[in-house]
Amino acid sequence: MQQFTPAEWQSWERFYRANFINSLTGFKSASLIGTINAQGVPNLGMFSSMVHIGSNPALIGYINRPIAAAPHTLSNIKSNGVYTVNHIHASFLAQAHQTSAKYPDEVNEFTEVGLTEEYIEGVKVPFVKESPIKYLLSLKEIVPITLNATFLVIGQLEQVLMDPALQPTSDGFLHLDQAGSICSNGLDAYYNTNLIDRFAYAKPDKAAEKL
Ligand SMILES: Cc1cc2nc3c(=O)[nH]c(=O)nc-3n(C[C@H](O)[C@H](O)[C@H](O)COP(=O)(O)O)c2cc1C
Repeated sequence: MQQFTPAEWQSWERFYRANFINSLTGFKSASLIGTINAQGVPNLGMFSSMVHIGSNPALIGYINRPIAAAPHTLSNIKSNGVYTVNHIHASFLAQAHQTSAKYPDEVNEFTEVGLTEEYIEGVKVPFVKESPIKYLLSLKEIVPITLNATFLVIGQLEQVLMDPALQPTSDGFLHLDQAGSICSNGLDAYYNTNLIDRFAYAKPDKAAEKL
């Protein structure tokens, strides 16, 4: 096997190293986080670090880079306490990727990249209208990661909006492949997905059983 050492990747050019390290953890979901700032300007950002934290209560986290690198999403979440997470479909992937650009505070990133704001009653933060699966989170905890000045931002699930054509299966599973929700790898590569198989709940005394 080819071996890589810390000395080697510390000597690499910044983006080369970021691509390599970010790819190692594998395919990730990629979503758009929708927020609004204190002046009422909507903001969108691409985030691939969404992580399931627990189902009861329903808690979902993501990692926010250091404030200087990605300031808007986190400060908007802090000021409003709520934010939306929107799955990405290949039909609007280029617009979604463009939200990772550093726009000034006063720029509405929906109009700038060509996506549509969608509001539901009683919620002041925007969803992405084009997104077939999206949800609303309320901020519960921001855990600073002192090692590299990033933050684990944890929200509680408050609402789920889904295209009615995408019903959960009888056991609650969501066929994200059929919904066309994309995933990402590294900093700039996106993929559609194919289901291989589903399996029954694994037990030590039984061989794995396909559903
Ligand atoms: C594929 C991809 C995944 C990304 N994932 C994250 C992430 O998980 N956390 C993060 O802080 N930034 C991530 N970014 C960078 C943000 O999209 C970028 O910093 C964005 O401008 C943040 O917006 P903000 O300044 O409005 O907060 C990612 C960018 C791309 C292209």
